[in-house]
Amino acid sequence: VLHSPSKGTVETEPDDLVLVGKEDDIKKSQRITAKVNGREVVVFYHEGRFYALDSRCYHEGGPLHLGEIEDIDGQACIICPWHKYTITLETGEGLYQGINPLEPSPTPRWQSKGVKQRIHKVTVKNKNVYVSPPDMSVSFDSDYFAEKYKNGGELAM
Ligand code: FES
Repeated sequence: VLHSPSKGTVETEPDDLVLVGKEDDIKKSQRITAKVNGREVVVFYHEGRFYALDSRCYHEGGPLHLGEIEDIDGQACIICPWHKYTITLETGEGLYQGINPLEPSPTPRWQSKGVKQRIHKVTVKNKNVYVSPPDMSVSFDSDYFAEKYKNGGELAM
C-alpha cells in the first residue's frame, strides 16, 4: 500500500502488521487464534505478557491453542495436548528432561532442544494487538505443519 506523503503526525501502522484482536478481549479470553499471512497463529496473554506462536505443534501438528500453560524452571511453557511436548512461550524452544548418567545420582533436568516452534512478534498499540508476519528467510520445524494447515486445512482437535 502506498501512502501519499503525510503532512503532520497522522499515526499509521506499518503496513505489514496483522491485526489479531483487541487488547482487552485477548486479556479476557487469555488466548485466541488468528491467521497471519494464511498461517494459523495462537496468541496467549499470560501473566501480563502477550506471546504468539505457530499454533500447530512442531512434533506432529497438535493444537497448541488447546494446551495448558505451565511454569517450568521459571519459563512459561505451553504443553501440547497430543504428546505433551513442552515449548517455551517466549522463545519457542522445545524442552525435554534429560539426565546426565555421569552424575552420582542422575536426576532429570530440563534442557533445550533449540528453537523448534516459530514465534511471532506481538505489538500492542492503541488497544489493538498486532502480529508481525513471519520472516521466511529462517525456517523452523513448525513451518511444516503451518504450511500443511494453511488456509483452512483440516482442523484436527
Ligand atoms: Fe505436539 Fe506431538 S503433536 S507433542
